[in-house]
Amino acid sequence: MTGTTATGGVAPDAVSCRGLRYSFGRTKAVDGVDLTVVSGEVFGLLGPNGAGKTTAIRCLTTLLPVPAGTVRVFGHDAAKERMAVRRMIGYVPQQLSADASLTGRENVALFARLFDVRRRERAERVALALEAVGLADAADRMAGTYSGGMIRRLELAQALVTAPRLLMLDEPTIGLDPIARTGVWEHITAIRAATGMTVLVTTHYMDEADQYCDRVALMHAGRVQALDTPERLKAALRDRRGDDSAPTLEDVFRDVVGGDLGASEEGGDFRDVRRTRRTASRLG
Ligand SMILES: Nc1ncnc2c1ncn2[C@@H]1O[C@H](COP(=O)(O)OP(=O)(O)O)[C@@H](O)[C@H]1O
Ligand SMILES: [Mg+2]
Repeated sequence: MTGTTATGGVAPDAVSCRGLRYSFGRTKAVDGVDLTVVSGEVFGLLGPNGAGKTTAIRCLTTLLPVPAGTVRVFGHDAAKERMAVRRMIGYVPQQLSADASLTGRENVALFARLFDVRRRERAERVALALEAVGLADAADRMAGTYSGGMIRRLELAQALVTAPRLLMLDEPTIGLDPIARTGVWEHITAIRAATGMTVLVTTHYMDEADQYCDRVALMHAGRVQALDTPERLKAALRDRRGDDSAPTLEDVFRDVVGGDLGASEEGGDFRDVRRTRRTASRLG
């Protein structure tokens, strides 16, 4: 799929992923994923713990190799043009990526230096990124004094300081209370509207994806089981049921995977639980 730009040129898709596979030993974490993220959209990769979301997103960021299949980011091959891909993306990992002993501004400045933002532009870009996530007033406080929602927004600023064309966020709202979750999403939405940036987000919160994503892929056991707009996925389930119920995206997911959501919030393996808790408690 390709889109036409305002100037009449053909814009490559932000992400084009064909037949992507990735295994850890005998565990097929990603088992043949095809998906396309159109330039400018907010795309949600949804699924329960263990579905393969983090592994897939790490392949897209070039942090993991692409052992089988092809991944292109704005037309650049993630296996062969890793640096070109890295220069276009911002990535907020699931794990904590901010340093509690630095101020918010110092944390963002560190990323600006690491990712080669030009020295004379740095101070301004850092300030703009902090402002974009609503942290201008708290910028000179230690990150260790921030709430969980503020930490997540700080990590968002770290990823934004390079002005990426594609922002990838892995479980941006995990472990946050509902108000903080809404705050994170409102900033993502506003930044997207202001910059036209493409956003790829993973989450296991179906309600958030329904509300904030243009299109979603439902991932289960390493595969994409359905992909469309939340509205069309829900309408299709309503048609299949042949009644006038109002299904949620979670109902769609249960229908598509045959009622088996696998590892639920209470489930997951020990590693998943430990990882979630560690992140949640650090973010406090
Ligand atoms: N570093 C790893 N070593 C071994 N197995 C892993 C590793 N990372 C993930 N897995 C396994 O791969 C599968 C997919 O995990 P992951 O991509 O983290 O899923 P999700 O992000 O959807 O929760 C799970 O079965 C998980 O246990
Ligand atoms: Mg994950």
